Amino acid sequence: MGYRVAVIGATGNVGREMLQTLHDRKFPADQIIPLASERSVGREVSYGDDEILKVQDLAKFDFKGVDIALSSPGAKVSAQHSPRAGAAGCVVIDNTSHFRMDPDVPLVVPEVNPQAIAGYKKRNIIANPNCSTIQMVVALKPLHALGTIKRVVVSTYQSVSGAGKEAMDELFNQTRAIYVNDAIKPERFTKQIAFNVIPHIDVFMDDGATKEEWKMAAETRKILDPNIAVHATCVRVPVFVGHAEAVNIEFETPVSEKQARDALQKAPGVVVVDHRANEGYVTPQEAAGEDAVYVSRIRKDPTIANGLSLWCVSDNLRKGAALNAVQIAEVLVRDYLRQ
Ligand SMILES: NC(=O)c1ccc[n+]([C@@H]2O[C@H](COP(=O)([O-])OP(=O)(O)OC[C@H]3O[C@@H](n4cnc5c(N)ncnc54)[C@H](OP(=O)(O)O)[C@@H]3O)[C@@H](O)[C@H]2O)c1
Repeated sequence: MGYRVAVIGATGNVGREMLQTLHDRKFPADQIIPLASERSVGREVSYGDDEILKVQDLAKFDFKGVDIALSSPGAKVSAQHSPRAGAAGCVVIDNTSHFRMDPDVPLVVPEVNPQAIAGYKKRNIIANPNCSTIQMVVALKPLHALGTIKRVVVSTYQSVSGAGKEAMDELFNQTRAIYVNDAIKPERFTKQIAFNVIPHIDVFMDDGATKEEWKMAAETRKILDPNIAVHATCVRVPVFVGHAEAVNIEFETPVSEKQARDALQKAPGVVVVDHRANEGYVTPQEAAGEDAVYVSRIRKDPTIANGLSLWCVSDNLRKGAALNAVQIAEVLVRDYLRQ
């Protein structure tokens, strides 16, 4: 007997990756139910190479008898439907920002705080963190165990797929328009994204930070340690898939480059590629389609006491979204929902 699993937002970037990941990891599902908006009813989505599923309307769907829902239809839609699914007895793993800071909802990266999953019972909801936070905390966790991290300063280089499928089309169309000398009209992004970079992701907050930057700080504290200070600058770059981050870490006590490299090499979910030569580091183009969080350019920061810098890259649709959600579902069925 397997599980009945709904995928909410199944026509989107994250939803399609969730379907692929459930299939690839042989998740024990008896039935997969793809859900999206009324616009997509009857549309076909792939589940693995051979199976085609027809999309149903989320608004009309009854979650009774569904064991798990992997949800990514945007924050407003989740705010309405995730509690409804939870109340029907379905455990929702929610990819949107809506429930992440709710004290009754665990925010989970399985390599970092799998024990937090136990808290799902209050609302039947588990939140998946922001894509930029996930890859960073996977790399920070083994380092925090070495020397206790005091402060992190991070600059991100985030791909357009993080903003959804229409944002990917915008990069493609603008790039094409430049080659054929057509006018450029920003729609999803505030400025031209092709051949440009934009230091603005999500809305501005009162202190001048963007909400994406605030999320990286607040989520890292909820997942890893409430005492870590994080200062982030989040930047959108003209890359289709894969986020990169330049991470500067200040520890309480000295941590050598060798200790850091050894700990990262042993850490679950991390692959260290760090040769100080041409091609000796990983870029988003190589991380796209892969599961790992890649760490390169590990080096001492001699400008502060106990400082270390590194470069961290991962596929934002996989470890940053779908894979993390499916890994949570795997722990859930192994430790909590066993049939
Ligand atoms: N992309 C990432 O790297 C990433 C990472 C972590 C979290 N997330 C979060 O995941 C969510 C989705 O991201 P995405 O990149 O997959 O976006 P996307 O490509 O734009 O897809 C959005 C999905 O939501 C569905 N949807 C929209 N309005 C709906 C409604 N009223 N009822 C039911 N379904 C509705 C869409 O269905 P239709 O096709 O029917 O419109 C589509 O399946 C966002 O909240 C995002 O912040 C994204």
